[in-house]
Amino acid sequence: MDVNAIKTRQPIIELKHLSKSFGDQILYDDVNLEVLPGETLVVMGGSGSGKSTLLRVLMGHLPYDGGSVRIHGREFADYSRRELNAWRLMVGVLFQTGALFNSMSLRDNLALPVREHTDLPEELIQIMIKIYLQLVGLRESIDRMPSELSGGMKKRAGLARALMMQPRMLFYDEPTAGLDPVSSAQISRLILDLKDKMDVTSIVITHDMNTAFRVADRMALLAEKRFYLVGTPDEFKRSDDPLVRQFVDGLLDGPLSPQADQQAYEADLLQKKVLFNR
Ligand SMILES: Nc1ncnc2c1ncn2[C@@H]1O[C@H](COP(=O)(O)OP(=O)(O)O)[C@@H](O)[C@H]1O
Ligand SMILES: [Mg+2]
Repeated sequence: MDVNAIKTRQPIIELKHLSKSFGDQILYDDVNLEVLPGETLVVMGGSGSGKSTLLRVLMGHLPYDGGSVRIHGREFADYSRRELNAWRLMVGVLFQTGALFNSMSLRDNLALPVREHTDLPEELIQIMIKIYLQLVGLRESIDRMPSELSGGMKKRAGLARALMMQPRMLFYDEPTAGLDPVSSAQISRLILDLKDKMDVTSIVITHDMNTAFRVADRMALLAEKRFYLVGTPDEFKRSDDPLVRQFVDGLLDGPLSPQADQQAYEADLLQKKVLFNR
């Protein structure tokens, strides 16, 4: 995608000087970010940096302390209950675990949100289930229970369920965590396919640099209580900032690590071992 083309459009989500604390713990000090229509924005950051929290703020499940969150040009805190519900129905969320109901077949897992939120006839719901399971490569598993699926299949099923509500946006929280490289590649392919076929705007949280570089139009690194770098994949590849390099190259030690005194040792060890090389 031509990033310059989407940059000219009004952002769907705009975070300005956002701050958020949990008790004494300052999570965000000055968070600034725009999510542009049609893009896939990859959000990276160390464990505990506040990536999942960002999604919870954007779903209206957690309040923010200061600064502004604008969604579709309006301050999110001013949304009425009705506007909030409408926004939530527009967003499909793929949780870390897939979050399927274990006591229900895939068919019923997918049918549930549509039966709950729409008046669509059952015959149509059944057709949609087949379409979306086909899209994620699980049509044959329609009557299986979640316990009969692998980790990657569960993630894909969670995605199919999110798609049943025809979302305009998709939030993926570590969609490839714990998956083998083949399953991870399938998920990346799906993220790309959905962008093409359904024209969705996506936020993808991931630690996995292969996935990140495969799917990203732009990338944002959450560190030091703010978005430390927001840019194109190329800008991330070219950056010589040690913190960015540590993240992109998957180094064990560096500014992001609490054991900064180990840095020289690790650098020595890992000097020639660039885990991610493009
Ligand atoms: N509801 C909450 N109450 C208190 N602390 C929380 C709450 N939610 C998250 N945190 C803390 O905020 C930090 C960021 O959490 P999270 O957004 O889940 O991180 P990430 O997804 O980047 O790993 C963690 O230290 C976590 O313990
Ligand atoms: Mg998380």
